[in-house]
Amino acid sequence: MLSCVGDYRKAAQRRLSRLAFDYLEGGAEDGDALRRNRDAYGEWLFRPRVLTDVSACSTATTLFGRHAAAPMIVGPTGLNALFWPKADVVLAQAAAKAGLPFVLSTASNALLEDVRAAVPDGDLWLQLYVQQDRGIAEDLMRRARDAGYSTLMLTVDTPVHGNRDHDVRNGFKLPLRVSGRLIADCVRHPRWSWQMLRHGSPQFVNIAKSAGQRPDLERHAAMLSRQMDLTLGWGDLAWLRRHWSGRIVVKGIQTIDDALMARHQGVDAIVLSNHGGRQLASTFAPIEMLPSVVKAVGDTPTIFVDGGVRRGSDVAKAVALGASGVLLGRAPLYGVASRGLPGAAHVLAILIAEMRTTMQLLGCPRVGRLGRGCLAHRTAGML
Ligand code: FNR
Repeated sequence: MLSCVGDYRKAAQRRLSRLAFDYLEGGAEDGDALRRNRDAYGEWLFRPRVLTDVSACSTATTLFGRHAAAPMIVGPTGLNALFWPKADVVLAQAAAKAGLPFVLSTASNALLEDVRAAVPDGDLWLQLYVQQDRGIAEDLMRRARDAGYSTLMLTVDTPVHGNRDHDVRNGFKLPLRVSGRLIADCVRHPRWSWQMLRHGSPQFVNIAKSAGQRPDLERHAAMLSRQMDLTLGWGDLAWLRRHWSGRIVVKGIQTIDDALMARHQGVDAIVLSNHGGRQLASTFAPIEMLPSVVKAVGDTPTIFVDGGVRRGSDVAKAVALGASGVLLGRAPLYGVASRGLPGAAHVLAILIAEMRTTMQLLGCPRVGRLGRGCLAHRTAGML
């Protein structure tokens, strides 16, 4: 019986090849930011209030005016088909079933129109990477608008890929190339190997379609994905707005200065994020940045946070510190990588149930009651 996100992590590690699990799990360089993201949650301790009526407790909230079952968003992750066939569709279904928004990555492996068809009523957002050929991003935005995606999330922390030693060591390149190391890895993980044999190497189908490539050339999109537009700047938000009239979220903010810049640009929300510790190797954990960013920007823009969320109690802490919600990266991936749809759905159900229990034990039966007074920093001593 798998009972927490950590159990699903172990199950995912057992099923996936080393190459796939290292890609899912790994942080940049020596993993400092990855570890810090997780450890930083332990620095905040709850101050529970007792004898409050917690009989009717709800994790529900509104995200951009729309009801959500909890302040959680299934965040964008690329290359999901490396973990499970049609994993983008599966994650969107799990999110819709749980009552949470789902963000489809530009580096996804299922057409955004097919994801929409699988969850006609789901709240779908599109994450955007901007490549040198701006026409690709423009076409992605047009297609997302036509398919009823509500929100655009521009990721700004990835002009180039971070230094990920494990991917270099594993010879991780797309399309997957047969090597002695990969064959040995496949032999040790037969269930994953069978998946790859049946479904083939993941393709960046959305980039390929928006680049106007024929399906038999889709694999070339793997190369395209590395051609990021390194000239992208704050001034380009005006270009985005010409192509996207809906909400814009900027993901990957890590300083007060950039949070204020985002506010100045009038974006609807920011995500405090270090990309799950996969990009710049030594950075503060987003949850550490949260209190000072909240203090600096106030109510606008909306602030989301991600990185290291593995427990419902982590979500309660993030909201208590002023976030409107968290993005979940690896946690739902562990679920989908180990058991497909039931696994992803169970991980989300676990996180929501854990958050509800935390709120009841804390004496906060509604999300709106979670506030700074619910927490003390470890260094502040017993309060
Ligand atoms: C990511 N992330 C990410 N972010 C993004 O904007 N576009 C993307 O394509 C991806 N791809 C991606 C792949 C994988 C395997 C992981 C683990 C992460 C980053 C992601 O959205 C999020 O910021 C972090 O994953 C949050 O940290 P945790 O929850 O994984 O600790």
